[in-house]
Amino acid sequence: MRSDILIIGAGGAGMRAAIAACEKGADVIIVTKSLIGKAHTVMAEGGIAASIADVDKADNWETHFSDTIVEGVYIGDWRMAELLAKEAPERVYELERYGAIFDRTDEGKIMQRAFGGHTYKRLCHIGDKTGLELIRTLEDKVLHSKAKIYDEIYITKLFIKDGRFAGALGIEMRSGDFIFFNAKAIIISTGGCGRVYKITSNSWESTGDGLALAYNAGARLKDMEMIQFHPTGMVWPPGVRGLLVTESVRGEGGILLNTNHERFMLRYSPEKRELDARDVVARSIYYEIKAGRGTAHGAVYLDISHKGADFIKRKLPGMYSQFMEFAGVDITKEPMEVAPTVHYQMGGIEVDPYTTSTCVSGVFASGEVASGLHGANRLGGNSLADILVFGKIAGDNAFEFVNGKEFTEVLSNEIESEIERVKGYIREGGRNPYNLMDELTTVMEDYVGIMRVGDDMRAAIKRIDDLKIRAREMGVRGTTKYNHGLLGCLEVENMLIVCEAIAKSALMREESRGGHTRSDFPKRRREWKRNIICYNNGGVMDFVTEPVPDLPDNLARLVKPEVYEDE
Ligand code: FUM
Repeated sequence: MRSDILIIGAGGAGMRAAIAACEKGADVIIVTKSLIGKAHTVMAEGGIAASIADVDKADNWETHFSDTIVEGVYIGDWRMAELLAKEAPERVYELERYGAIFDRTDEGKIMQRAFGGHTYKRLCHIGDKTGLELIRTLEDKVLHSKAKIYDEIYITKLFIKDGRFAGALGIEMRSGDFIFFNAKAIIISTGGCGRVYKITSNSWESTGDGLALAYNAGARLKDMEMIQFHPTGMVWPPGVRGLLVTESVRGEGGILLNTNHERFMLRYSPEKRELDARDVVARSIYYEIKAGRGTAHGAVYLDISHKGADFIKRKLPGMYSQFMEFAGVDITKEPMEVAPTVHYQMGGIEVDPYTTSTCVSGVFASGEVASGLHGANRLGGNSLADILVFGKIAGDNAFEFVNGKEFTEVLSNEIESEIERVKGYIREGGRNPYNLMDELTTVMEDYVGIMRVGDDMRAAIKRIDDLKIRAREMGVRGTTKYNHGLLGCLEVENMLIVCEAIAKSALMREESRGGHTRSDFPKRRREWKRNIICYNNGGVMDFVTEPVPDLPDNLARLVKPEVYEDE
């Protein structure tokens, strides 16, 4: 198949990029490993952060910018934060023009709610189903554009010719056929890698495929150690462990209690309490459980029952039914049991802040798979703003890149050899990929989790090395047709690259900052106000660190200066 631009991933970032590129006249193909409309974007329940000031009149882009930099603990890219803060309002209004129906204030304006780390009520929302409405709206727009969408296609390799992107090979799950996509540019919008951990809010697709594809193609990965642990995931029953309990519960007045019925956030964060940044609240819950003040299921309580049944069912209908159906808990009467869950990767593919291009010509990346904006900790609601703002920027700039360019051909023997490599996993007596996946996710959970220490991470790296060797023996029976075992083999390959990058970057960063907490380096350190870059150096994973670009004076004056405890 041939198109100017190939987009992998049909979540919010991919869809928004497709809309932008099509509007400019590009010929676009979108492929997704999942089903159209079933993107992980739907799990961002609480809202889109945008300083439209419909509820808190004092809000403005400057405060949104400052909140993003400060809560990203000063290692985010100020250029991306500025773009996000300035452009998010227009992306929200545009979404409304596309047909999204936001909750309204009594005056008929867009309703906005409080979320952790945001100075003002800033999250435009649709109950607790904002991501779902966003995907529905963008999908409708894309289906009416000229973009062609193919679902259940898994991309196995990007082909680079003379330093420029030339095409990608995919396997169509339904038919088992291989498809070569010849394109002038690619936008990687495959989302995150939460599934490399055992307990995660992420859906099955989030295995970090885009990160590995980009890394193998020569792109750089940045700050891979920065993983967000969302404070509140479900813990019971075991089948739904990790499932998101939206921050909106706290945004709408929910409080956290330990088993002594103490509102413990008053101790950890007397001012912001439950609405401090996610890293702070997640660590506080972790400490409470470690101190023996957690429930038998290893959780604390989240209670919103004091708000009354009408309010809860109107504001949090998804949470009401989620707990009723999965846990038999009526949240209008009883507290929920919650504990931290892996939710988001702040790090990812390094991109140019203004174009989303990577260091590989013709390769662009946007959304969770890309790094820069969120620094060491993402604010809730900034992910939906991110995919809209940077999805559009990716689509616009990929169009500028392909305009007037010729296609680059890939030799058929190179494609054949990739097909043979993938088919090589179909054999008798191979190792079961799901056993390796289970082991890998357990290693990450146990050794590179919310509380990290050097010895554990060194142990994790050894275990990952060992898993890499055993992964060479993976194999499944059957054919290429709808073979989930084969998909598992390909995912494990990618997950191993991602886990190595996370574990090694985490070991390198000898400080605690945002989502990265080390018991052996508990303080934030000025010398680590740097980004960690990971790249493929002739088949070996290599690392460098680079200083975070300084804020220009006009923006620096908006931001509370950084304070280091020891200085
Ligand atoms: O808690 C939530 O609703 C998640 C939102 C987000 O991650 O942005």
